[in-house]
Amino acid sequence: MRYFFIIYALLAVLVVSIGGFRGEKFKDTPIRIFPDMDEQDRIDAQELSPFFADNNGARLPVENTVPQGLVQADLADENAKQFTNDNSYYHTGMFDEKVFGTGLPVSDLALDEANLEAFIKRGKVVFDSNCAACHGVSGNGKGVVASYGVPGVFNLIDSTLPDGGMFDVIANGRGNMAAFGYQIDLKDRWAVIAYIRSLQYARKAPLEQVKAAYEAAQ
Ligand code: HEC
Repeated sequence: MRYFFIIYALLAVLVVSIGGFRGEKFKDTPIRIFPDMDEQDRIDAQELSPFFADNNGARLPVENTVPQGLVQADLADENAKQFTNDNSYYHTGMFDEKVFGTGLPVSDLALDEANLEAFIKRGKVVFDSNCAACHGVSGNGKGVVASYGVPGVFNLIDSTLPDGGMFDVIANGRGNMAAFGYQIDLKDRWAVIAYIRSLQYARKAPLEQVKAAYEAAQ
């Protein structure tokens, strides 16, 4: 019983010392063993800043300027919508919400003979800036990031995924690959698939076919 009272008293002291003084404000510099990023050279949202004449930390963009990279989303434009509830093949790469389809949604993309080349070239721009660091400029999975040890980067030349499956990996990510749905809009996702197909074809095209083009380019 004696021990019980001792333990009880100790517990009471412990509870009071841990819980009792919380919320008390103090002005001394706190002891920080690991300061981490407690203090940063920045202005928090809504914070005052004596740097500006009006003491307002939050600033409006300078008049008559447009922030670099800001493209006003045109909501009437189908391609400006990154995410919708539309379950069509164009938006999901799937038929009936479960089967990955293959082929480009030609009519949604308004593709024809005249603009196809520009479309594939657009795919190259998107691929080179977003994918080549991992998958390699030729799509062979030997990009610079892979050479630093990111495991399992896929060789896209060997990919057997249907177009819709590729669309899904690009939009939603898989394994070590992040989702690109936020960065790459609908039309560009299809453009990059078209470009990957052209990379695959370039590797598998019969020699006679490429020989003439190769020699012509010399
Ligand atoms: C950070 C590196 C990285 C980047 C950037 C990246 N990928 Fe990937 N990708 C991977 C990895 C890793 C995998 C294998 C994922 C897994 O574990 O299944 C993969 C898988 C894929 C696959 C699946 C291939 C198959 O047959 O299963 C496709 C398609 C693909 N990536 C396309 C792209 C495209 C298009 C881009 C650019 C928009 C891109 N990736 C950007 C790392 C990357």
